[in-house]
Amino acid sequence: MATADKKVYRASTTAPVNIAVVKYWGKRDPKLNLPTNSSLSVTLSQADLRTLTTASCSAAYPASEGDSLLLNGEAADVTNARTQACFRELRRRRAALEAASPALPKLSTYPLRLVSENNFPTAAGLASSAAGFAALVRAVADLYELPDSPAELSLVARQGSGSACRSLFGGYVAWRAGSREDGLDSVADQVAEAAHWPEMRAVVLVASAEKKGVSSTSGMQQTVATSGLFRERVATVVPANMARMEKAIADKNFEEFAEVTMRDSNSFHATCADTYPPIFYMNDVSRAAVRAVEAINAHAGRAVAAYTFDAGPNAVIYYLEKDAEVVVGTLYHVLGDTEGWKREALSGLKASMSLDSGVAALLKGGISRVIMTAVGEGPQKTDKFLVAEDGTPV
Ligand code: DP6
Repeated sequence: MATADKKVYRASTTAPVNIAVVKYWGKRDPKLNLPTNSSLSVTLSQADLRTLTTASCSAAYPASEGDSLLLNGEAADVTNARTQACFRELRRRRAALEAASPALPKLSTYPLRLVSENNFPTAAGLASSAAGFAALVRAVADLYELPDSPAELSLVARQGSGSACRSLFGGYVAWRAGSREDGLDSVADQVAEAAHWPEMRAVVLVASAEKKGVSSTSGMQQTVATSGLFRERVATVVPANMARMEKAIADKNFEEFAEVTMRDSNSFHATCADTYPPIFYMNDVSRAAVRAVEAINAHAGRAVAAYTFDAGPNAVIYYLEKDAEVVVGTLYHVLGDTEGWKREALSGLKASMSLDSGVAALLKGGISRVIMTAVGEGPQKTDKFLVAEDGTPV
């Protein structure tokens, strides 16, 4: 007689954060999490920002405990519809493998125990849902030994959080809105590898680490329901920005990349202001960051820096490594000893210009931390486990 399988099965992966340069904002189907428009993002280096997730399952885990997720040391809710949709989809795919090969252990029937941690403080103020859901989906897919490609898994991650589908790839990533009602064509694909344009850098100016006032999920629903400007964004602005952005990346044309990035962020925040009642994510400190980038670009005589803002006041500024002096040197000169500067990357950088004193004062008073990072790779399998061989979280 076969002894009961008490083995703890494990798989670990890391997944990156991504910051969109053509924004996802609006759902055409909230249940399947299908967007109103395509979007495009840059995957950021996991040396600076990543989620590490170990997925494990075992017939020895008490069924009464059900599935669980420990996030940064605290029990997180897995009963929400989004996490449930991811688990259901992944189990369905594993169950199909088991049906085809009856010798396989029936992992799809075992409780899942997930343990996850970020390498950046929550105080960084960065939405971690993209990296979190990408890591969850990739780790469980590895645990289940699914043959699915990253594009196929993006269909699952999308149901956890829209932006998460783009974190299954490194480099430059598009999420194609698709038009099918079942969402099977609403999938992420890699526009270019990180190695295609490895000089891309980003500095994040953290203006607030607080949880955002209006969540992106509810904010975008209000925009879809009430903004007339939004219809114009979806019909003409985004399609044009997607085409220009893909060409800018293919051509490694930073000036074009920068203009589209800034225009698209402005367009997205304009639809937020056009939402009724209006939604304001950017604040005075955010606007000072916009002025700083404009001044830096004017001083350089070309676009060497590009700002973009998500559903909060933090600025992400893209630039190329060769322009670090004018971009980072100027910001460092203003912000001084703020937490997060990489000394080695700053050594030798001079401030080639100074900013308007009002702009400088707002930045100095309002930026609590910076993160210096770069374009990076997609999820990586690792043998660093957050669940021990006996199933206990470590
Ligand atoms: C402004 O992916 O957080 O960052 O699908 O409801 O989870 P849900 O939304 P989410 O929205 C991200 C919005 C954004 C723009 C972007 O990342 O494209």
